[in-house]
Amino acid sequence: MCGIIGISSNKSVSVSIINSLKKLEYRGYDSAGIATLFDGEITEVKSEGRVNVLEENFDLKNLKGNIGIGHVRWATHGAPNSINAHPHSSDNVSVVHNGIIENSTILKKYLTSKGHIFKSQTDTEVIVHLITENLKTDELDLAITKTLKQLHGSFALGIIFKDSPNLIVGARRGSPLAVGYGPNENYLGSDSYALKAMTNKITYLDDGEFCIIRNDQVLFFNEDGKKINKKIMELSSDESSYEKGEFKHFMAKEIEEQPTTIKTGIKEYIDKTNLDINIYNFPWKVDEINSITLIGCGTAYHSCLMAKYWFENLTQLDVNIDIASEFRYRKNRFKKDSLYIFVSQSGETADTYAALDLCNRNKMKTCAVVNVIESSIARDSNFVLPIHCGPEIGVASTKAFLGQILILYILALKFGDLRKETNKENYKNKIKGLLNLPSLIEKSLLMDNDIQAISSTFNEAKGSMFLGRGFSYPIALEGALKLKELSYVHAEGYPAGEMKHGPLALIEDGMPVVVLAPRDSYYKKTISNMQEVIARGAKVLLITNKSKDEIISENIWETIEVENTNDDLLPFLLTIPLQKLAYYSALQKGYDIDKPRNLAKSVTVE
Ligand code: G6P
Repeated sequence: MCGIIGISSNKSVSVSIINSLKKLEYRGYDSAGIATLFDGEITEVKSEGRVNVLEENFDLKNLKGNIGIGHVRWATHGAPNSINAHPHSSDNVSVVHNGIIENSTILKKYLTSKGHIFKSQTDTEVIVHLITENLKTDELDLAITKTLKQLHGSFALGIIFKDSPNLIVGARRGSPLAVGYGPNENYLGSDSYALKAMTNKITYLDDGEFCIIRNDQVLFFNEDGKKINKKIMELSSDESSYEKGEFKHFMAKEIEEQPTTIKTGIKEYIDKTNLDINIYNFPWKVDEINSITLIGCGTAYHSCLMAKYWFENLTQLDVNIDIASEFRYRKNRFKKDSLYIFVSQSGETADTYAALDLCNRNKMKTCAVVNVIESSIARDSNFVLPIHCGPEIGVASTKAFLGQILILYILALKFGDLRKETNKENYKNKIKGLLNLPSLIEKSLLMDNDIQAISSTFNEAKGSMFLGRGFSYPIALEGALKLKELSYVHAEGYPAGEMKHGPLALIEDGMPVVVLAPRDSYYKKTISNMQEVIARGAKVLLITNKSKDEIISENIWETIEVENTNDDLLPFLLTIPLQKLAYYSALQKGYDIDKPRNLAKSVTVE
């Protein structure tokens, strides 16, 4: 949440800061701001709204200064207006911050008693005044070390100083921060994506560390202020993944990229010749594991739920799933024979990371299923299974979801085989089935016209429901999440068999209800549940797979048929029309599809 950038150069930095902020907007977009240092003065400009509003309001091209910081905000403390927008500055210090300062109230009291005057409602402003206060008695590096120790909570910071005109300080606890190296300039950024246009040489700060960045030098320090050395990594530079190309939105592009996501996953993990799975070198013996717990947030949590069905079908393991923000504060029973799997596109989600950290502190076996392999969750897990789907920019996750469930399915198959709980023939047949998945997804992507026509009904309704049983239940939850996050239409995902225990009361004449009823072992049961909602006036959109058998029901409003495949793989195909339904509903309403209101892609606060 929130994106920060800092540049120390031998030339003017404002234009590069603006360009980087545009790339960081997926992290927050309710206000934006910049501060630069020129001729011994800090100039701060900020606006409510997006970066383009900031550009319209100020002549940023002529904002002078070879040192500067910038910020895009996702509000936590204080309304999203220009006063609360970052940077926040005192006479000498200007700060951009991503995270939450938990002891800001106590610090504010202390600083007010020392004569500091606060202008905003943010927690961030205490950092500005605390540094200013500490600089009265200490040299810069000591003042920073001291300040960071006084702060409770999470932060990634970029700081500039009127009295130290050639440097930027960056600091990290909990929220991600990268340093980049360029010709006669160096950078600070919330992620490598923001820096990509300027460099592919990156160093990630670890928790507790801070750095001092000049245009010709970067120094790193640990939390006690001792100088440390850190490695520089080179990132691959596939620029095309960061552009929309012919597509109107990143989300549309990312939906269409899904066959490639699956092809890449298959290439990385499947031995096509021997029909085997290339996952070796587990740091633990799989037969020492008796239970697994899968943990994630949002869409990644739905991947965990999906995986539960596969693991239970293919292995004898006990399978638990958990929402990271719940797991991290519960009294968990940590057992030696448990494996904890963390699922995350970004690898930086604060709650998921905290859950991982808790498991690490309890010496548990940990595995990460992530997209960003340089991320904190990947770095701090015992074992990493990348999903290799390339950058996902649209805030609502699409290709990362299919990438995650693919890897989790492959992992469930591998566990079943290694533990001899799936028979060999079945194992090989299922792998064979996977090889056809990319072409089946390609076919499912061709259904635009039908879905466009249907989407207006969802926009006009008061609310909608998405129902499924078994393998289709997690997909129903994901479909409802997509619709609500993009179209702001109330949508609820529910297990079809549970409707009669309450939610059936919501059904009224004309209410659109999506029923996922592929012809798997749950088909007849789901169709009965569908009858129950039709009988109460629901307009049912049935999503099933192609079959010669007639659909055993009447009075269905619309039907979408996806390709036929084995039961395990149907969830992949059912997902596509739901992603498109959400996309077209939002398109029709004219909403900002890649940046839905109130949301952000990388949620690095609790
Ligand atoms: C945010 C995003 C969701 C995502 C969730 C978890 O809420 O908007 O699309 O599913 O975070 O993110 P992660 O990066 O951990 O998968």
